[in-house]
Amino acid sequence: MPSTLGTADVPAGADAGTAQAPAVLEVANLVTRFASPDGEVSAVNGVSFTVGQGETLGIVGESGSGKSQIFMSVMGLLAANGRATGSVRYRGQEILNLPRARLNRIRGSRISMIFQDPMTSLNPYLRISRQMTEVLVHHKGMTASAALEEAIRMLDLVRIPEARRRVHMYPHEFSGGMRQRVMIAMALLCQPDLLIADEPTTALDVTVQAQILDLMRDLKREFDTSIIMITHDLGVIAGLSDRVLVMYAGSIVESGPVRDIFYNPQHPYTEALLKSMPRLDDDILGELPTIAGQPPNLQHLPTGCPFRPRCVHAFDRCVTDAPALEPFYRGRAKACHLEAL
Ligand SMILES: Nc1ncnc2c1ncn2[C@@H]1O[C@H](COP(=O)(O)OP(=O)(O)O)[C@@H](O)[C@H]1O
Ligand SMILES: [Mg+2]
Repeated sequence: MPSTLGTADVPAGADAGTAQAPAVLEVANLVTRFASPDGEVSAVNGVSFTVGQGETLGIVGESGSGKSQIFMSVMGLLAANGRATGSVRYRGQEILNLPRARLNRIRGSRISMIFQDPMTSLNPYLRISRQMTEVLVHHKGMTASAALEEAIRMLDLVRIPEARRRVHMYPHEFSGGMRQRVMIAMALLCQPDLLIADEPTTALDVTVQAQILDLMRDLKREFDTSIIMITHDLGVIAGLSDRVLVMYAGSIVESGPVRDIFYNPQHPYTEALLKSMPRLDDDILGELPTIAGQPPNLQHLPTGCPFRPRCVHAFDRCVTDAPALEPFYRGRAKACHLEAL
């Protein structure tokens, strides 16, 4: 385990006594752009946030709002036409744009990422046993037989029935939900400090989705792993997150404890997202309100507030001034010129 006493981060002076260990992940002013033939795409526009020990951070926003590209930047997995600037610290150590060899040491062992499509991480041509044991042999120096036992234990842990037999199967022999469990087991093999889950349940039907979310809750309790849960679906993060970031057009527009986001949203976009969420007591024949208008073109962001063209509360200042993300109440921040909603 890395040292949690980040003395280098302790400011000299009066409040040294209350100084804390560096956050597990600290992202500051991250900007990610892509070159494209018809102009630059601004996918992430100056995003800052931290994730604490054992904390689960939910990140929500429409498709295309830049959620995935934040973590592709963090993990050094950006497409060749992408470039990220700013700072990403993992337990105090700068990791943005590290050389591949150094990143590889952190990736997969300290920080693991799981994706919507398990086949992004699984090799279709190799048995699960081989894929799981290789990681342990490589990162942990285990013997092949110890690694196999550990792989079986992990498959048991993510509740794959008959793990001892199934560990020898190929990915295509598992159902979609079971494959997702295999991927989670692989991500947990080296007991990562931070698990980044990018829409891990989006492709699954509702029942299986609920099972996977239950599993993540159990893992969180058991390992004290910090988790980042990325989704376009507020329902997914409701029961799992401690804190939530709401993304719009590559920016964080609101952040706060999960309860505040759900019960007292203070950004018009968060409010609109909540209104478009299905509720158990909805008249099943009624239609859900959708957010009027289109997400912005990331090659030509509007002046002022990016949400302004779709905002029912917009006024003059929203056209000229881009609101910064400002704290307004305990643990809460919003990027909006309105005093209150
Ligand atoms: N290689 C690329 N070249 C150009 N644009 C890209 C590239 N990869 C992603 N983008 C753009 O970046 C934006 C943010 O994408 P993404 O982070 O994947 O959104 P989300 O995960 O929120 O759905 C999208 O508009 C997407 O089209
Ligand atoms: Mg995505």
